[in-house]
Amino acid sequence: MTDKVRELVFVRSDGGELAGYAPGAHVKFQLPSGERSYSLIDFKPVSGDGGPGEYRFAVQLEMQSTGGSQHMHDLAVGDEAVVSPPGNDFPLVPNAPALLIAGGIGITPMISMATALAFAATPFRFHYAGRTSSAMAYRDELAAAFGDQLTLHFDDQPDTALNLQKLAASVGEDEHVYVCGPKGMIDAVKSAMETAGIAADRVHFELFTSAAEQSGDVAFEVEVHATGEVFTVPPGKTIIEVLEDGGVDLIHDCLRGDCGICKTDIIDGVPDHRDVVLSDSEKAEGKVMQICVSRAKSARLVLDL
Ligand code: FES
Repeated sequence: MTDKVRELVFVRSDGGELAGYAPGAHVKFQLPSGERSYSLIDFKPVSGDGGPGEYRFAVQLEMQSTGGSQHMHDLAVGDEAVVSPPGNDFPLVPNAPALLIAGGIGITPMISMATALAFAATPFRFHYAGRTSSAMAYRDELAAAFGDQLTLHFDDQPDTALNLQKLAASVGEDEHVYVCGPKGMIDAVKSAMETAGIAADRVHFELFTSAAEQSGDVAFEVEVHATGEVFTVPPGKTIIEVLEDGGVDLIHDCLRGDCGICKTDIIDGVPDHRDVVLSDSEKAEGKVMQICVSRAKSARLVLDL
C-alpha cells in the first residue's frame, strides 16, 4: 500500500466462516517471534448474521521490528497463519457521536469504526494524520468512502497541521473521542482533551506500536515481594517477559501499555513509565506501573506480586 505498509487478507483454511466482531476489534497472530495483535479493517459493515468471509489487515514494517511485522511482510499467497478469535479493547460507545483521530498506521481500527458509524447514521468527524500523503495507507479509499467527514493532515504540509487545541475546543457535549496512533499522539490528545475539560471517560485510545526499546536502556532488577525472588530485566526485554520466563504467573492482555490490565503496585523503587494508560498524577506518584512496557529508573524495583 505504501513503501512500509502491506495489506493482507485471510480466509479460513477450511473454507468456513470466520468469527464475527465489532468495530475496533483485533486478532492476535501466533508468530514465530511471539504474539502480535492487528486490527480488523472493514469498509463494509460486518453483518450480525454470520461471520465475515475474510479478515483484512494492514501491517507496517517497523524499523525496530522484533520479527512480527517482518514476518507479516514476508508471507506469500497461500501461507497459513494461526490467530485467536477477535477481541476488542477499543469498542465504540453505542449511538454516541464520535471524533476519530488516527495517526499513521493507527488508521486501521478507525476504518471499521467510521464504517459502522456511517452505516448507523451516527454523526462523526474523522481526522487522519501522517508524515506525507504517500505514506498514508487507504488515503484514497477513505476519501471516497467518507467524503467531507474526513480531514487529512500531512506533517510535510504545515497548512494542514492537526490543531488539537482547536479540535478539543470543538468537542460536543455527547461526543466521544477515539485516538489510535503512536504514544506521542495519544499523550497529546489526552492532554488537549483534559485541558478543554473533556471527561476522561469520553476519551478512548489504543496505542498502535508497543513502547519501542529506547536507546540508553539499561538492565535493572525486579524483586517479587511474595517470594523474594530477584530477576534481572535486560534492555530489549520487558518485566513481564522476564518474570514469565522465570515461572511467575501474571495477568496481561495488550502488552503495549494501553489496556491497563497489568497494573502492578510498587513497594520500592522508581518506575520509568512508558504506557499511555496511567494518569499523569499516577505516574508522578510512582506507586503503580504497567509492567508490560515500563522499566525502572532505580537499580531495583520491588513489586507487589
Ligand atoms: S498488558 Fe495492557 S497495559 Fe500492560
